Amino acid sequence: MEHFIHVLPKVELHLHIEGTLEPELMFELAERNQIPLPYDSVESLRNAYEFDDLQSFLDLYYQGAAVLLTRQDFYDLTWAYMKRCQDQHVVHTEIFFDPQSHTSRGVAMEDVIIGIHDALQQAEQEFGITSHLILCFLRHLSEEDALATLNAALPYRSMFIGVGLDSSEKGHPPEKFARVFDKARSLGFKRVAHAGEEGPAAYIRTAVDVLGVDRVDHGVRCTEDDNLVDDLIASRMPLTVCPLSNIKLKVFSDIKEHNIRSLLHQGACVTVNSDDPAYFGGYIEENFKAVQDGLGMTNEELARLSLNAVEASFMTMERKAMISRNIIFLLHACQIRPD
Ligand code: ADE
Ligand code: ZN
Repeated sequence: MEHFIHVLPKVELHLHIEGTLEPELMFELAERNQIPLPYDSVESLRNAYEFDDLQSFLDLYYQGAAVLLTRQDFYDLTWAYMKRCQDQHVVHTEIFFDPQSHTSRGVAMEDVIIGIHDALQQAEQEFGITSHLILCFLRHLSEEDALATLNAALPYRSMFIGVGLDSSEKGHPPEKFARVFDKARSLGFKRVAHAGEEGPAAYIRTAVDVLGVDRVDHGVRCTEDDNLVDDLIASRMPLTVCPLSNIKLKVFSDIKEHNIRSLLHQGACVTVNSDDPAYFGGYIEENFKAVQDGLGMTNEELARLSLNAVEASFMTMERKAMISRNIIFLLHACQIRPD
């Protein structure tokens, strides 16, 4: 079973590049850039990764991201993640980045985007892993700030496929960003938004109806509204679920309480993702293992989660068909010769 998860071709759709900053690299970059860290060792930093809720995590996440200064730093961060993708059989990944958390510290938009983009290009050449970038707006900031950020990124528009919405959810509903998402739509960008992670089911509804998103990030609180669940299923609206993140941030008290399997059985387009793996105890493979162990998911169910991610991705139809075929082939091969 473990072998099946390892070799299963996987597609990641909810991954914050700043959330892949492992403590070792954080210390290396802090030293390189002469930025003091309030921890005396990698261990003491790792020991601080105990969270009560989303905000207690975000406070550490933004503090950590402050060691990223140069184009090389963004390249190194992204390259380290792409090597993990290669190790874990991730064949395609769609990556979030938070430019406002860097430009607000004086980092040039160009260095953020080109640093990440260069590493993605190299991973496609060396590993054959395809990818897209998604620019996220920080929802605790104003819509004007988000509009200015989109404008500043437009010279690099060929390097990102869409826009997203993240950071502190409660009190910052999707509709706060209606105009900037409208502008993104008119420019031809894909749209996604975090909704229903800590915020109410109503935020999922407005992410879909007001922002016109192509996917909902998290979305697990949809089960508080039966009509919403019916609509998400009927429209095959993808939910990019992050099981280990939900446990670390106490969205669910235990993996056994998680609703991903029940949503899958009802026909929802749920997918498995790692969110901020350096902080939450694992990359995509560990997230698949968590739902397999905690919820007793079968190989067929795990393959379906991966097929959902292919369907929900922004890759070409040809690549979707090829990866789907490989997933189904593997499932059949394991049914004939189970490991
Ligand atoms: N930024 C990074 N990780 C996040 C999450 N899980 N929710 C909202 N914003 C985030
Ligand atoms: Zn997220």
